[in-house]
Amino acid sequence: MTAGFVPPPYPQDRLDDLRSRAALVAGGCVDTSIGTPVDPMPAVAARALADAGAGATGYPPSVGTPALREAAAGWMHRRLGISVPPDRVIACVGTKEMVASLPRLLALRDPTRDTVLYPAVSYPTYEMGARLAGLRAVPVPVDEQWRLDIERVAPGDARRALVLWINEPANPTGASTPVADLAGLVRWARRNGVIVSSDECYAEFTYDGTGAPAAPVTALSSGPEGVLAVHSLSKRSNMAGLRAGFVAGDADLVRYLGEVRRHAGMIVPTPVQAAAAAALADDAHVDQQRERYRRRRADATTALEGFGLAPAGGPSTFYLWLRSAAGAGDGWAIAARLAERGLVVAPGELYGPDGVDYVRLSLTVSDERLEFALDRLAAAPV
Ligand SMILES: Cc1ncc(COP(=O)(O)O)c(C=O)c1O
Repeated sequence: MTAGFVPPPYPQDRLDDLRSRAALVAGGCVDTSIGTPVDPMPAVAARALADAGAGATGYPPSVGTPALREAAAGWMHRRLGISVPPDRVIACVGTKEMVASLPRLLALRDPTRDTVLYPAVSYPTYEMGARLAGLRAVPVPVDEQWRLDIERVAPGDARRALVLWINEPANPTGASTPVADLAGLVRWARRNGVIVSSDECYAEFTYDGTGAPAAPVTALSSGPEGVLAVHSLSKRSNMAGLRAGFVAGDADLVRYLGEVRRHAGMIVPTPVQAAAAAALADDAHVDQQRERYRRRRADATTALEGFGLAPAGGPSTFYLWLRSAAGAGDGWAIAARLAERGLVVAPGELYGPDGVDYVRLSLTVSDERLEFALDRLAAAPV
């Protein structure tokens, strides 16, 4: 057998020991290590899903139904303040598959470039997508606010770069980037002939420093040329189990991706497309969800500060990025201490070597379980 690609351990599987330890604590394990929503999906989406189900005998369009593409365009207009024609939107089967497959598809289109740039502390699938494409994965350093420090990309890497991943606002750090800085990233990419792929799946969970809702921002505010924005229904509408998202932006890139993905049979099921269209047309459920996460963030922050941890990230997404209040420390050690009290968090090393001192807590647990876990921490402090 040749020495081919061996997939690394799946990041979440590396937490099995922590989970086993937490399970031994009275009341059981409260797992905040994964960003999988637990609150209900909107009723309009559940209805659309049920109504479309029985009639879904034919193949749906790979690029998305007209209803889904129009709903996505309408949402971007309403919430992001940009006009994107519906034919510059294509559906994807949740965004993880798009993140993982995009570099391969873009490299087929432009074989002269062999490098994927991605934030040094980030969602692991950006790096994995580069590896699956046989491309170089080059992390872009982040500054003390966890924002991309694009000027530190080496000129040689910039010349070879095919695509630059942005994650706005960012998993795992919760950082958000002012729109002027996003525009600077797009300018840098255009100057260097690099495609921008902006993963904006947490856009609706953007907050200011006080926890008040802040307007979501998009890289498409700089215009569509050479820019793709990637959006998901998983987080916005608690529909991770349905697998629905979309990509919008540059006309040529979107058309190309629509064609190759159709050849590859990447299709969102008809009932899911109907549910996604219904969810995108409704904002009330997102307002409720944003307020739920705000409340959970405030409660969890207070309790974790009492446990000797300090918030170290930005105000957005549904993640808390924490480190030891005493200064440098090992994220795995912090996670072990929390597991001894029944709470599982993700060590920051899962998101890149620069995350090693930190842990990430996801606010995607029910109010009851979160309150229970925080009370348990308070009862057995540091
Ligand atoms: C930054 C980021 N992008 C993309 C995804 C993928 O989400 P989905 O495939 O459910 O759309 C996630 C999920 O955690 C994420 O954190």
